[in-house]
Amino acid sequence: MPRYEISSDPARLDVAAVHAFLSQSYWSAGIPLATVARAIEHSICVGAYAGKNQVGFARMVSDQATFAYLADVYVLEDHRGQGLARRMMDKLKALPELQGLRRLMLATRDAHGLYERFGFKPLAAPERFMELHRPDAYATAPRPGATLRLPKSTPPADVGKAPAVLIDARIHELGGWRGGVLARVRTVIRDADPGITEEWKWNVPVWVCKGIICTGEAYAKAVKLTFPKGTALADPLKLFNSSLTGNQRRAIDIAEGATIDEAALRDLVRAAVRLNNAGA
Ligand SMILES: CC(C)(COP(=O)(O)OP(=O)(O)OC[C@H]1O[C@@H](n2cnc3c(N)ncnc32)[C@H](O)[C@@H]1OP(=O)(O)O)[C@@H](O)C(=O)NCCC(=O)NCCS
Repeated sequence: MPRYEISSDPARLDVAAVHAFLSQSYWSAGIPLATVARAIEHSICVGAYAGKNQVGFARMVSDQATFAYLADVYVLEDHRGQGLARRMMDKLKALPELQGLRRLMLATRDAHGLYERFGFKPLAAPERFMELHRPDAYATAPRPGATLRLPKSTPPADVGKAPAVLIDARIHELGGWRGGVLARVRTVIRDADPGITEEWKWNVPVWVCKGIICTGEAYAKAVKLTFPKGTALADPLKLFNSSLTGNQRRAIDIAEGATIDEAALRDLVRAAVRLNNAGA
């Protein structure tokens, strides 16, 4: 059984891993990476870790004086039933900035039993509460700056390492078909234009030429290339197959066994370079 650690250190959070879970969850399906990153940046978060891998997450939105809202609690399936959610809640409850609050709230579809253990109860006077709920919020425009104001989530051990080294390590660590796909698309992207450089941000590879061309994230079922200005790029061969409702972003999900149209990808990358060079 793995040894787990619970930590409130923001530098340990793996934003891409948190996004991978939340974007598939029943309560925040389709949430963009930048929105998750922004939410993390402005919340008090805890993570559960099995070695280097983040396997659980919870965050508290709070004024740190009177009120807090608990959100986005999850534990990856393989690690459930071992007390990790309880330990994350214990950690949050003990944090100095969350002491003495008058009210804590949360919403849950079916985990009432978990939260009851921490003193949460159904609303005593629901008629006093109101909500402004926008279930389609993630399909509409992000706030200005949301795409680029992301926290630095590079683990301390990786700070100072060259991006190319970190990307090599990610490819190696992923291995299998995902490592192969990431390595392949990396070559296509780098070869598309001599001005393209590699960066490492938000714990993922980023290809840049006068601005971001795309990021390369790895999920269980796909390697995802996200183009932040995808809507402005011609995509005659319809490579974009994901994030199709994003205001500006478009993404290419490459699943296991899928063929990569390298010529079309190269053209798309070159179009993104032209767009950045034009100062768009
Ligand atoms: C809910 C979830 C976070 C629980 O994680 P977990 O690590 O398996 O939970 P724990 O092992 O720490 O369980 C702590 C206690 O809560 C109970 N519990 C856990 N999930 C529960 C649930 N969905 N309903 C009722 N009780 C629950 C456990 O039985 C355990 O009780 P015990 O202390 O008496 O043994 C996890 O199942 C999950 O990620 N689910 C999918 C995402 C989700 O629904 N999140 C909640 C959104 S509000």
